[in-house]
Amino acid sequence: MKLLLKIWRQKDGSSKGKLVDYPIDHIEGDMSFLEMLDVLNQELIEKGDEPVVFDHDCREGICGTCSLMINGEPHGPDRLITTCQLHMRRFNDGDTIVIEPFRATAFPVLKDLMVDRSAFDRIQQAGGYISVNTSGNTVDANAIPIDKHHADESFEAASCIGCGACVAACKNASAMLFTAAKVSQFALLPQGKVEAIDRVQNMVRQMDLEGFGNCTNTGACEVECPKGISLENIARMNREYLMATVKG
Ligand code: SF4
Ligand code: FES
Repeated sequence: MKLLLKIWRQKDGSSKGKLVDYPIDHIEGDMSFLEMLDVLNQELIEKGDEPVVFDHDCREGICGTCSLMINGEPHGPDRLITTCQLHMRRFNDGDTIVIEPFRATAFPVLKDLMVDRSAFDRIQQAGGYISVNTSGNTVDANAIPIDKHHADESFEAASCIGCGACVAACKNASAMLFTAAKVSQFALLPQGKVEAIDRVQNMVRQMDLEGFGNCTNTGACEVECPKGISLENIARMNREYLMATVKG
């Protein structure tokens, strides 16, 4: 395939960025989207130009590092996959592909297509954990009975990989789906009940401090989430928050 790539280039967080045209040829349908960018970068390096900076790690849909806006959609045109799982066969010879970073005030651009998503880490640090006594009297987690329905729902919430596509898809740049998944994975389990009040209050407070927008129930986050995290988690987090306000 022969393609025209329009890629966001930005020197650093304080510089102005712009879309730059890169024609590219000999792209195979079996290449992944990131391999296609590797080919482009190899060509740029051979010409003495600066390669395009983009985030990636596992390249198998589990780490949440890859984060590209492809033709206006986070992770591209397919549903339930990450950018690293997208293949070039999804595009046609002669296509123009616009590639931009995830855009949100709370995700400042570091360089080109790479953004700083440490705001998510700080939300997690505010309460996305359980405290376990490791003094030798720890109860084996498998010895605590948990009904199957709650275990499954918790597992689904825990499949959030923290990629940030929900924020990028939302017109308000809201982080509600991410935060709700992290609250839900513990709210549904007995181990998470002990710190439930502090957890939801601290995580929501941190989410607001980071500058994410409000949720207005458009549902774009759920549509674009590569792990199919359900809006039900947002409803659960709102209930948890209400209960914490009443009890706390
Ligand atoms: S909720 Fe989905 S889109 Fe948002 S960070 Fe988690 S996996 Fe990514
Ligand atoms: S590189 Fe890890 S999910 Fe894409």
